[in-house]
Amino acid sequence: MSIWGRVFAAGYDRIMEGAEKSVLRAHRQALVGRASGRVLEIGGGTGANLPFYGDDVAELVITEPEEPMARRLEDKLAASARTAEVVRAPAEDLPFVDASFDVVVSTLVLCTVGDPAKSLTEIRRLLKPDGRLLFLEHVRSDDPGLARWQDRLHGIQVRIGHGCHCNRDTLASIESAGFTVSELRHDQLLKAPPIVRPLVIGIAQAKA
Ligand SMILES: C[S@@+](CC[C@H](N)C(=O)[O-])C[C@H]1O[C@@H](n2cnc3c(N)ncnc32)[C@H](O)[C@@H]1O
Repeated sequence: MSIWGRVFAAGYDRIMEGAEKSVLRAHRQALVGRASGRVLEIGGGTGANLPFYGDDVAELVITEPEEPMARRLEDKLAASARTAEVVRAPAEDLPFVDASFDVVVSTLVLCTVGDPAKSLTEIRRLLKPDGRLLFLEHVRSDDPGLARWQDRLHGIQVRIGHGCHCNRDTLASIESAGFTVSELRHDQLLKAPPIVRPLVIGIAQAKA
């Protein structure tokens, strides 16, 4: 684990505070509040979604591959009324049996995983036939001018954002992985640099 990885985890909640208050918290509440049954959250980070899981969640499993993040997540869980199992695993290789989750939650993670296509294949494998992927992701801009800046500044963003890619067309990746997007909202991550502002929030189901 790099020093920057440790610093990033330690500062994550503070770095995100403005964006959380202005935009993200409301989306997390509306989206994560719709999770039900046996739920898997990938890349749970410091646990920003924990307050928003409701009573319809029968069991919550949260994966997080980075140790400094996982420790913060466990601390937050210990201080909350919510119980969840924390599993240290990357989204590309998840140690669960096929068709074992009703819902998978991914918030601000598909920008960072090493291999989005492989991660989405894993998510699809783990979802029950009528299961849902709830996603909230920052993505490549539809505006060609901003997309060009996202491509130009992408290398710097990967370093500053500890692996975060600002120019990924995550919606296209979700669809290419065999999902149908049934609900979709676009928004802007105010209080963040323009290259990480475009947001997609939605629900997807695996095609039969
Ligand atoms: C920007 S943070 C988002 C954290 C949290 N999901 C949220 O909404 O605040 C990205 C997270 O993805 C995690 N991550 C990095 N590589 C990953 C991978 N291959 N699989 C799953 N999560 C990964 C990071 O450790 C970090 O916790």
